[in-house]
Amino acid sequence: MEKKWWHGKTAYQIYPKSFLDTNGDGIGDLRGIIRKLDYFKDLGVEILWLSPIYCSPLADQGYDISDYYGIDPRFGTMEDMDELLSQAGRRGIHILMDLVVNHCSDEHPWFQAACRDPEGPYGRYFYIVDRPADGSLPCNWRSAFGGSVWSPLPGHPDKLYLHIFHRKQPDLNWENPEVRQEIYKMVNWWLDKGLSGFRIDAIINIKKHLPFENYPADRADGLCSIEYMLANAHGVIDFLDEMADAAFRPHDAFTAGEVFHEKEEELPRFIGDRGVFSSMFDFAETLLGQSPLGWYDNKPVTPEMYKAACFASQKRVEGVGFLCNIIENHDEPRGVSHYLPPEGRHTAGKKLLAGLNFMLRGLPFLYQGQEIGMENRRCRSIDEVDDISARDEYQVALAAGLGPEEALAAVNRFSRDNARTPFQWDGTENAGFTDGTPWLPVNENYREINLSAQMEDPDSLWNFYRALIALRKSPTYAEAVVYGDLIPWLREQENLMAYLRKGEEKTLLVLGNFQNAAQTAVLPGAVRKVLLNNLHEFTAEAGRVQLEPWQFLILEVAR
Ligand code: GLC
Ligand code: CA
Repeated sequence: MEKKWWHGKTAYQIYPKSFLDTNGDGIGDLRGIIRKLDYFKDLGVEILWLSPIYCSPLADQGYDISDYYGIDPRFGTMEDMDELLSQAGRRGIHILMDLVVNHCSDEHPWFQAACRDPEGPYGRYFYIVDRPADGSLPCNWRSAFGGSVWSPLPGHPDKLYLHIFHRKQPDLNWENPEVRQEIYKMVNWWLDKGLSGFRIDAIINIKKHLPFENYPADRADGLCSIEYMLANAHGVIDFLDEMADAAFRPHDAFTAGEVFHEKEEELPRFIGDRGVFSSMFDFAETLLGQSPLGWYDNKPVTPEMYKAACFASQKRVEGVGFLCNIIENHDEPRGVSHYLPPEGRHTAGKKLLAGLNFMLRGLPFLYQGQEIGMENRRCRSIDEVDDISARDEYQVALAAGLGPEEALAAVNRFSRDNARTPFQWDGTENAGFTDGTPWLPVNENYREINLSAQMEDPDSLWNFYRALIALRKSPTYAEAVVYGDLIPWLREQENLMAYLRKGEEKTLLVLGNFQNAAQTAVLPGAVRKVLLNNLHEFTAEAGRVQLEPWQFLILEVAR
């Protein structure tokens, strides 16, 4: 496999709105990110992905862009962005932006022009159709945030436009070459500015199976998930290959796709040596337990499920490419609240989850707050919920017959707000995030969970992440950590997640006792060195290691 500049690095996702507010308006900003660049240098992070900061009505928190060439004034100015790029560059930190091109905002000039003249050139930038005479819809697809994907075109009651996400996010028509050229031009403009690449939003959706047609309804609302259409859609790779040639490849850009529902045989074309992207996120774990009926019906994730999903993903990409590994992002609940059973939600358990995920083969992507173990926030009423997805899921749960309290409980488990509460910098008011009123309330636990306390504590989760990142870069072990084969170890042993990372010179054994009771594990060879231990105990004898509840170890073993 060809070696790439990004392989050995650790990446980190910033959710700018909740990162650090420097002007007291309660909204995180670019100046806040600039101020904290040394923090990332100290932590060892070398790639930063910024969730969208473009001009936007923020109907979906910036994933609805009204000007791809502008910075939303709430986040700062283009001068701030330029400064961020140069200051980051000086520290050896690469900046990625979010590329949101399945759709734009309904406030984007393209859509406004389409509304003025649907028959004109901008009408062809979107999917606009005549409303069927019988009042039906062109097809029964359900939008990701609830209801039909079709809404009346403003000013034209006889026409409908397509939006796979919110009605304020009209889908761009990728079949139109003019649209594609506009997008490539914009991507090049940013890469020329010094951006190192992009995280690529919702990209599988750009290819629609046409003509529009119904699929069997999968809920009582008579609509169906977009998945059925995607399974029939072919050709997304051709669009992406064209974009890669037009923009990514000439810049040697790093690109991480948000890809769901890809076709198995397309994997090499996505992330193989001549793939359209550098990498893509592994979402297998995030999909565990998910019900087609809605969040209210989701099942808990067990350690065995987690282990099986991680190993299956590793197997899929073996010999193909690199995945981006995550335990959470801005669309997911906090990993420690989601993957750890209640009795494991303490520092030792959090370190175990951190280590098991971080040491997988691939590129680790930390999400803001993960490094201090931030947890889900419980809302007491649906009125406290900001996330449009969670608000829809609340209605879905009510419609399914749940009471308001049960519906709220479901929303609290999965709401995207969980990951979007302000970063907990310290124990002062509003966790040091703002002098004003935060746009989303700070998690009440900020006095116990905050960065400043963890930086002082050598046994903190934060220091553990720092050690993991350092190990990934250590001259002795980097080769095994980054490129070593991943071989599951004692796979059948319940609630033990263990694997070898076999490098050219070194072999590491990663062990996690994913339960509240001790267990022992057979060793594949003599222990040369304990590289990381989340507890103080370490007992190995007669070819076995004793694992305390929630113990996590990285051992160098003889091969
Ligand atoms: C992606 C984003 C999510 C957004 C959606 C629509 O899944 O991560 O936050 O709502 O796309 O752009
Ligand atoms: Ca601000």
